[in-house]
Amino acid sequence: MRDLLTDAAERAIGYLQGLDARAVAPAPAAVAALDEFDTALPDAGSDAGEVIALLDRLGSPATMAMAGSRFFGFVIGGALPVTVAASWLATAWDQNTGLYNSTPATSRLEQVALRWLVELFGLPSGTGGAFVTGATVANFTALAAARHAVLQRAGWNVEADGLFGAPEVTIVVGKEAHPSVIKSLGLLGFGRDRIVHVPIDGQGRMRADALPTLSGPAIVCAQVGNVNTGACDPVAGIRTRLRGSHAWLHVDGAFGLWAAAAPALASAVRGVEVADSWATDAHKWLNVPYDSGLAFVRDAEALRAAMAITADYLPTASEFRNPSDYTPELSRRARGVEIWAALSGLGRQGVAELVERNCRQARRFAEGLRAAGFEILNEVVLNQVLVAFGDVAETQRVIAALQAEGTCWCGGTVWQGRTAMRISVSSWATTDADVERSLEAMYRVAADRRAP
Ligand SMILES: Cc1ncc(COP(=O)(O)O)c(C=O)c1O
Repeated sequence: MRDLLTDAAERAIGYLQGLDARAVAPAPAAVAALDEFDTALPDAGSDAGEVIALLDRLGSPATMAMAGSRFFGFVIGGALPVTVAASWLATAWDQNTGLYNSTPATSRLEQVALRWLVELFGLPSGTGGAFVTGATVANFTALAAARHAVLQRAGWNVEADGLFGAPEVTIVVGKEAHPSVIKSLGLLGFGRDRIVHVPIDGQGRMRADALPTLSGPAIVCAQVGNVNTGACDPVAGIRTRLRGSHAWLHVDGAFGLWAAAAPALASAVRGVEVADSWATDAHKWLNVPYDSGLAFVRDAEALRAAMAITADYLPTASEFRNPSDYTPELSRRARGVEIWAALSGLGRQGVAELVERNCRQARRFAEGLRAAGFEILNEVVLNQVLVAFGDVAETQRVIAALQAEGTCWCGGTVWQGRTAMRISVSSWATTDADVERSLEAMYRVAADRRAP
């Protein structure tokens, strides 16, 4: 076992150290070679060392270098070395982190990490939380608590009686809500087509003045951190508009909530703590390995009511927090260990510095591209930049050529009718030199394309 695990660790270290010198996207030949994996199910097993060697030989070159310093697609954090190491150790522990009594170490670590996060984001003390797979499931989890609470207030027990015959719940989102929120609402039985969409401004922010007047059970989903522009809904203004309505206010802050942990950026999300629930990702801006998301609910009991289960064989009685009382899963890996390691390793100041540095780097991207004559389509309020290199065809050509050139990787989008390249700066590993090197590549690729 020692030789096997040492070999795997050395291969992983070699992989990470090799990222700077390789193209961000995998070479087509490496992707084609994945066919070699596609064999018949073996009857007999193989030597474990050979299994890992094959995985490395075929798998490593065919990966996208998301762990590297110049991947700017989607919204993707790298994994801080301390979190990779913590993940290795926690994997060796192999704790099914559902119940404190059976997994005290990992359960306690999650309890501590939750307290630290609530403090870091400035959320109300006593806020409950769940360590889940990502913001999609965090939205689902928090909205399950919302569903419980708004229907309980209307005298209905949704966990016992379901939604057939329940009082109607009005669901309100901004027109730019992330599709994962819509999906979560659908999974909770609210019906994707019953959702009321509130108009937005030119950056994608929900217009608080356009909120409908609400009465009866209602859930309003705001957003901090639009996936294209980074813009944040005016959460405090939305709360003010909802005064007297008893509506539950949820915030999808998949990456934007991290601005609340960075004093220089906190004004972008001012008032976010007035909501009733929040969803965010740790695998984005906290830079822990996939997959890791967080749901927070002001009324921890509402979350517990939606999620907790008991059975005679489960040792649920505990003076400490049982992680599975708050998550959709019963059996689960100890995601909180990596979050605890990241927060321990960075401290409050390190988190703020990471978030602020990435935002400064995003502003540098925008400034460099604007100076080179390209159009920046958004106000760069956080870590997202939208750039158009010309018309639709030209922008699409630059994106494809940049991805093929390999210095960095950015994806495309359509923002309010304009085709754009998205630059999302979310990694601990990105240095200012990486930004300059990537800008040079963008200028070069765009100029190549302009030549006759
Ligand atoms: C605003 C927002 N909400 C939700 C999500 C979904 O997050 P995940 O893919 O981690 O489930 C994203 C992903 O980028 C996002 O930007």
